[in-house]
Amino acid sequence: MSDLTGDSSPGRGSTGGKEGDHPLASVRRVPAAPANSGSRGSEAQTATTNLSNSKFVEHELIGKGGSGQVVRVFDKNILRNVAIKDLAPESLDAGREVDRFVAEGRITGQLEHPNIVPVYEFGSQDNGRPYLAMKLVDGETLETVLARVGEGRLEPDALADFLHIFVKVCEAVAFAHSRGVIHRDLKPSNIMISDFGQVYVVDWGIARLTIATGGGPQVRLGSDGLPANVAVDPAGGLVGTPCYMAPEQLRREETLDVRTDVFGLGGTLYQILTGTAPLTPETMRALYMRREPPPIAPPERLVPGDRMPPELARIAMRALAFEPADRHPTVLDLKRDIESFQRGAWHMPRVALPAGTVIVKEGDAGDVAYVIEEGRCVAYRLEAGQENVLRDMGPGEVFGETAVFSEKPRTASVKALTDVVLVAVTRDVLSRAMGLNSWMGAFVKALADRFREVDEKLRILGREPPSSTPR
Ligand SMILES: Nc1ncnc2c1ncn2[C@@H]1O[C@H](COP(=O)(O)OP(=O)(O)O)[C@@H](O)[C@H]1O
Ligand SMILES: [Mg+2]
Repeated sequence: MSDLTGDSSPGRGSTGGKEGDHPLASVRRVPAAPANSGSRGSEAQTATTNLSNSKFVEHELIGKGGSGQVVRVFDKNILRNVAIKDLAPESLDAGREVDRFVAEGRITGQLEHPNIVPVYEFGSQDNGRPYLAMKLVDGETLETVLARVGEGRLEPDALADFLHIFVKVCEAVAFAHSRGVIHRDLKPSNIMISDFGQVYVVDWGIARLTIATGGGPQVRLGSDGLPANVAVDPAGGLVGTPCYMAPEQLRREETLDVRTDVFGLGGTLYQILTGTAPLTPETMRALYMRREPPPIAPPERLVPGDRMPPELARIAMRALAFEPADRHPTVLDLKRDIESFQRGAWHMPRVALPAGTVIVKEGDAGDVAYVIEEGRCVAYRLEAGQENVLRDMGPGEVFGETAVFSEKPRTASVKALTDVVLVAVTRDVLSRAMGLNSWMGAFVKALADRFREVDEKLRILGREPPSSTPR
């Protein structure tokens, strides 16, 4: 066999593609880190492991959590980097931690799904300590991405990308539920996004098996490990991450079910919307002491102005209800709510303009259409220096859409008769909502073109169409 280790420095293999190919372009890491490095810049440290005599070399610490560490290593047989999770030495004496780790390996390994980090193997180190080898996700946690994007997270493109990530996470969790597994620790730091846009749910360390409901395939724990349906934490033990933990977890109730994960997902959505976790230490303490907790602050209160899409805030708050019965009953219900927001109810920016403002002008290129929310506007054309009024418009009426659809100049002007509040709908948003680049878009564009032709003919005949508004 040829020398497997020859000329095989870690990080050499490229995942290919260009930065611009990233499907989540607006939230991607800039500049992209060298492919397959797994490095977190200056945070990178050499890790201490007992894998020295194995096929794994070149250890570098890339993550640390409650009970263990995650290191990047190079597999010199396959010539690829992988992520290895192992337990902190102090956890080793606690048999419970080892049992839980074994359960994590088995549960994660059996949950084969595009959005659940793939497990390569579960093995023993030189000293008998267990390790879990998994796909190295070259990228960042959602926590890091949200911190980096900061206030920009509610910009339409960034929000669309975050919702796309969120839906993938829902799919992974719904799949786990279908296999009888609840994660119990869903939060942005347990969601990873690769530099090429794949989304992975990691850290099934406190995942728990539930009693099967649907009768489909279930995750099984073997006879030498833990029996099925066992709680891997001692009964009543406080495991998980407090700021996102469901009230029933904090209250140490035994009635955890899929709605516990709905709460964790609600917390993740809350952080996408507000930049912060839903529970304050005060709320947590009250829940833990089984006292009446202060309510979670509504997302719109944490974000000034009108940038918070009310529908998304409502969805997050429902998922975060203290009573499981008030939450979405399943993760698929939560996902459906998000998808219906994505399809139609996109949050558009409002513009407030004073009376007299000319909002669109005949002959200008137009890539924004407007819906009048408050006030009145008038559409007119200038003919021989005279304003020829076409239409008086009020709340709910729309103008400027034909220029957007047809990509031709405006055919009339509109000005505000009173102070107005308008919803501005850009071509970009309309394209996304209507699929303007698909066959449906072609029909809409053709209709807009026909309308312009008729409008033009009527003008030539010297007769205005009865309800002509600027297009
Ligand atoms: N497969 C992986 N590839 C790259 N980084 C990972 C991977 N799994 C985990 N990490 C990083 O390590 C951190 C801790 O891992 P996690 O499984 O969440 O452990 P803990 O149970 O200690 O929280 C994660 O937040 C992430 O930054
Ligand atoms: Mg974690």
